[in-house]
Amino acid sequence: MNQRERKKRTVKAETVAKTVPTAKEIKTEKIVSAVKEKKAVKPDTQGIFDNRMARKIDELRWLYMELYGNDSMFFELCDQLHRFYEERSSTLKALDQKREADPGWYKKNDMLGMMFYIDNFAGNMKGVESKLDYLEKNNVNYIHLMPFLDTPKGRSDGGYAVADFRKVQENLGTMDDLEALAGACHKKGISLCMDFVMNHTSEDHEWAKKARQGDGEYMSRYFFYDNSYIPSLYEKTVPQVFPTTAPGNFTWLPEIGHYVMTTFYPYQWDLNYGNPRVFNEMMYNFLFLANKGIDVIRIDAVPYIWKELNTPCRNLPQVHTIVRMMRLISEIVCPGVILLGEVVMEPEKVVPYFGTVEKPECHMLYNVTTMATTWHTVATRDVRLLKKQLDIVNGLPKDYVFLNYLRCHDDIGWGLDYDFLKNFSIDEVSHKKFLNDFFTGKYPDTFGRGELYNDDPRLGDARLCGTTASLCGIEKYGFEGNVVGVDRSVRYDITLHAFMLSQSGIPVIYSGDEIGQVNDYSYKDDPDKAVDSRYLHRGEFNWSLAPNRNIADTVQGKLFHALDHLEHIRSSHSVFDTTADLRTIDTWDSSILAIVRENAEEKFIGIYNFSDQDKVAWINEDDGIYTDLISGHEMEAKGVMIPAFGCFWLCRKK
Ligand code: GLC
Repeated sequence: MNQRERKKRTVKAETVAKTVPTAKEIKTEKIVSAVKEKKAVKPDTQGIFDNRMARKIDELRWLYMELYGNDSMFFELCDQLHRFYEERSSTLKALDQKREADPGWYKKNDMLGMMFYIDNFAGNMKGVESKLDYLEKNNVNYIHLMPFLDTPKGRSDGGYAVADFRKVQENLGTMDDLEALAGACHKKGISLCMDFVMNHTSEDHEWAKKARQGDGEYMSRYFFYDNSYIPSLYEKTVPQVFPTTAPGNFTWLPEIGHYVMTTFYPYQWDLNYGNPRVFNEMMYNFLFLANKGIDVIRIDAVPYIWKELNTPCRNLPQVHTIVRMMRLISEIVCPGVILLGEVVMEPEKVVPYFGTVEKPECHMLYNVTTMATTWHTVATRDVRLLKKQLDIVNGLPKDYVFLNYLRCHDDIGWGLDYDFLKNFSIDEVSHKKFLNDFFTGKYPDTFGRGELYNDDPRLGDARLCGTTASLCGIEKYGFEGNVVGVDRSVRYDITLHAFMLSQSGIPVIYSGDEIGQVNDYSYKDDPDKAVDSRYLHRGEFNWSLAPNRNIADTVQGKLFHALDHLEHIRSSHSVFDTTADLRTIDTWDSSILAIVRENAEEKFIGIYNFSDQDKVAWINEDDGIYTDLISGHEMEAKGVMIPAFGCFWLCRKK
């Protein structure tokens, strides 16, 4: 839904709320008082719930009715919201209140995340708990535990095929372990993020099993068709997510003679959010997990959750209705919990998921285009597209908080602004090939050691896998024993992290990057993983190399020390707060990017050289003496000499 339509809907909702006092108000009142009456047990916190409910219920009901027109299901939902509130621990309730009083709690300049698979990092949940000290040494106060809910082995999509939303994978622990881990994290001021995979369930989920047996109630929770006609209509307008590893959007189930919609892998069945039972139950799952102590809910693959014939089934208006309802629900039951939307798409499709400032949807979104554009810049050594991308992001309201990253568990999709690149005679298909050739080491003189993912020769649309260190050359030069090469690659790796840490938003480090972990090729020996090259950068954390972080002249030592230094600078200077103003400035060199951050106290200039040559950044910020926060040297912000792949963080007090 575009901003205009949304505004229209908002206005419509408000107008109705004001001008139709009859049926709706009476109903709303009835619901609030019925919920109150039923549960007037804990007078101390009951009032808080009632207040929140009273403030939000009009809009929630409006949206629910717009989508489902089902009063009794809405009543059930409200009743359950109260139940989950009642069940929420007093510690979490206290945290909710603290965060309600400080709504910018997650936007501060000391927020730093790290993401990892539990088994790769520490074996299991208890292992993670025992490694919290290590995470603290990384200055991390937000950890994203990659999917850990029950999932069938070999048909898991890295855990994104959930068989039971209320059960932890046995090898990783139990719900009690999760609760204990969350408690231990909270004591240390660490927030916990988890994936909420709401677009689909595993085919092993209880609902899917019943649906497969032909139970109509459960079939209606998915998209079932007894012949290929409707599926073939969908296929006309719905693009494919995994064209090579899982072509098509439907899977034929011979045992019941039906097709089922499977946008991702055939074992991930798309949920039908047109059915209010699905929405309600998934909200209960969400609240169940929130009550275990989760602070950040990552809504997986959110653009896909509503399906409609003759559309691409992406970003439909109803998706926004659902996300807004989720936001309202969390604000009623667990306002300390924030929503992180996973929208891996171009900026104009991402930004609407923030909602409007008055009616917000997600609290945070991935800055996916900046991430992909950064790697494009590494390959092209040309910062013009990156500068333009940053200008777009910096022009958005400050309430919009992006989550910045260099690498994550997924591939890098080359979703770049090809219209802009046309100005330089760069065409999409050949450019994607160039980028992939560059990072897979095919292109002469390149240092990247990545692998392709879902190579679709028809569209020339392969994506890329690999760790930051491997894409920066640490793997190649290390293998070749080229000490100078390794050194330069480490410098580049640090520069890219410095750039990421100075962007607007919250930075998240991919576990292993802090010690320059390279690709793990062992996935090729595991038949369950071999078809999915994303496992290349999902290797086990190398605890035998980790101690080298304390040895200054090792790759691990250099990276760890440098990131630690940058992170401390970031958290101790208010200019890194998400509230600071940001802009890019010209450097008169197409390989050098310069960004300015500014608040009432400080002015910061980050300068990043994406070329393999030492250069001069022809900036001319003639307003005083700056200190390079990294080296501690004082200098002017004029004609700055900058080494190949190097960076400066200039800053001056006002
Ligand atoms: C998200 C995940 C990805 C997964 C997909 C399907 O995009 O990041 O790893 O394959 O959802 O659930």
